[in-house]
Order: sequence, then structure tokens, then C-alpha cells
Amino acid sequence: MDIKAIQDDIRSEWLQFEGLMKEALWSKSDLLNSINTYLLDNKGKQVRPLLSLLAARALGNPGRLTIACSVVSEMIHTATLLHDDVADEATQRRGVDTVQYKYNPAASVLTGDYWLAKSLTLIVSERNMEVMGFFTKAVEELSEGELFQMQKASSLDTTEEDYYRIIAQKTSSLFIAAIKSSVFTMGASPEVLTKMEQYAYHLGLAFQIRDDIFDYTPQLNTGKPTGGDVKEKKLTLPLIAALKAAGEEERELMLDAIRFAGYEDDKLAEQAFALVEKYNGNAVAQSALEYQCNMAQECLMSLPDSIYRDHLVELTRYMGSREK
Ligand code: FPP
Ligand code: MG
Repeated sequence: MDIKAIQDDIRSEWLQFEGLMKEALWSKSDLLNSINTYLLDNKGKQVRPLLSLLAARALGNPGRLTIACSVVSEMIHTATLLHDDVADEATQRRGVDTVQYKYNPAASVLTGDYWLAKSLTLIVSERNMEVMGFFTKAVEELSEGELFQMQKASSLDTTEEDYYRIIAQKTSSLFIAAIKSSVFTMGASPEVLTKMEQYAYHLGLAFQIRDDIFDYTPQLNTGKPTGGDVKEKKLTLPLIAALKAAGEEERELMLDAIRFAGYEDDKLAEQAFALVEKYNGNAVAQSALEYQCNMAQECLMSLPDSIYRDHLVELTRYMGSREK
């Protein structure tokens, strides 16, 4: 999958996206500028702005408000990761040290606050109440989803339904804001708006399920350590599927191990990997995500035929098979 080639097909919008994001982040603090440079030097795939701009381009020529929507989606995403890495005590992301590990947890939280605040300042400056509402709704869902995940980690009883609620809130919500806002600013009909919201919902689920499979796939080099989810007592689809397939005794043994293990307990991750392997938890999760990708792809047919829609289809397929 050549993401760079897709960016080149929306070159003008992509350059505006990069320029506006840099401009929006400017700060008087040297420490903040140094952390921001580190983050921009180690940026991720930037899929949210890419999806947002492709969807907009499929409907016409995006103006500044639409570009701002793509910037806001990436800035909120970065803010959530800066907070999430503190919550998860993560040491590595995208193959490099996390900000919370390289600098310190407080610097990571505060930089996250700054990116969030600056993103909201940018969207407020555009004076569009609907668009503001799409993003504030996403921020609300993201925080609530994370807290619900925390609640379920403590009660250790995440059902498949709980899992889908968590990932819809913590991941789909921002995909929805990114795509719905840009399509809305292009004057899409209510039908197209609804279909593209559904598209983003399904794609976000697929994206997160793939991410959760990574945590049970040590042989892939994703730039993040594996085995962290079970150590944090987060029950994700590969393990939920394996626990469902296992017998009562095996299930209780696993749950007790999770309940009583310390965070540094590597044996716990090995025990969970073995259970997931034995009951094909990753394969069950993979077929669930392929279903979500197919649902997403169908929704894309609400857009007029163009190379931008073709790229969205390609990206949707890529979400199902990406290796980082
Ligand atoms: C990554 O999940 C985390 C998220 C998708 C959402 C994080 C949201 C918050 C911390 C709360 C809201 C924060 C703001 C600034 C509004 P993961 O830990 O499963 O994935 P990972 O493996 O990439 O860390
Ligand atoms: Mg995390």
C-alpha cells in the first residue's frame, strides 16, 4: 500500500494540511517546540486527515474550513495518544520512545492538552457550530470510552458487546468526526452524510480490531511492544474469542492469572498468547474486522465515482491487512 502515492493525488490539499498544522502548533515555549518537533519527526500514517481529505475531494474542491477539519482530526488524535501512553505507561510507539518515557509523564499529558486546546482554537476560529459540535462530541466519546475500558479492566468481565462499545467510542468516534466534518463542509446531502458516518464507524472498528490483533502478534514489527493489553487487564477481541471457546476450567485459570498478575509479569502475556493461539482468537478477530471492512466499503458507494473514491476503497482494504 503506497500511502505517499495517494497523498500525491491530493498534493495541494496535503501541503495545506501540513502547513496549517505547523502554523496551529507554534508556541513560545522551547520545551514544547522541542517535543512538537519530536512528534512531527516521528509522525504516524496520518490516516484520519487522509480519509477526510479524500472524502472531501470526491465531492469537489475543499476550501480552508475543510482543510482545518483534517488538521483538527490529526491534532486530536495526537493529543489522545499523548494521554493514552501515560495511562498505559507505554515506552514505545512508532518504533521510537514515547514522549512520556523520553521526557516525563506530565510533559506528555500537558503536550496532549496543548494539542487538544490548539485544535479547538483552530476550529473555533472557523466559526462553524456544526463542525465544532462534531469534534467536541468525539472528544466526549473518546474520554468516556477510555473510562469505560478502565472500568471493565477492573471488573474483568468485558463482553463482546462491551468491547464493541469501547472501540466505537475510543476509535470510531474520531474517524466519524474527521470524515463527517469534511463531507459536511463540502455540502453533502443528508443521505451521503449518513452513509459516510456509517463508513467511518465501521472503518474505525476495523482499524482498532487490527490494532488489537497486533498486540497478540509478536512476530510482526509494528513499532509497539506486544502483550501489553492483557497486562493492563484489557480484554480485547482475540482474547475474548479465545475465552469464549475455552472450557470453564481453562477460562477461570486465565482470568485468575490476569486478576492476580503484576504488570511486569511476562508469563501472563505468554499464557494469554498460548490461549489465543489454541483457540484461533486472532483468526476470529480477523474475520470480524473483515466484516467491518466490507460494511465500510459498501457505504463508500454513496460517493460519486472518482479516483478519490477508489483510493478510499484501497485504504479500506488496507485497514484489514495493514502490518503496522
Ligand atoms: C489507543 O488505544 C487510544 C485511543 C484510541 C483513545 C485514547 C483516548 C484518551 C486517552 C482519552 C481522551 C483524550 C483526549 C485528549 C480527548 P490503545 O491503547 O488500545 O492503542 P495503542 O496500542 O495504540 O496504544
Ligand atoms: Mg495504548
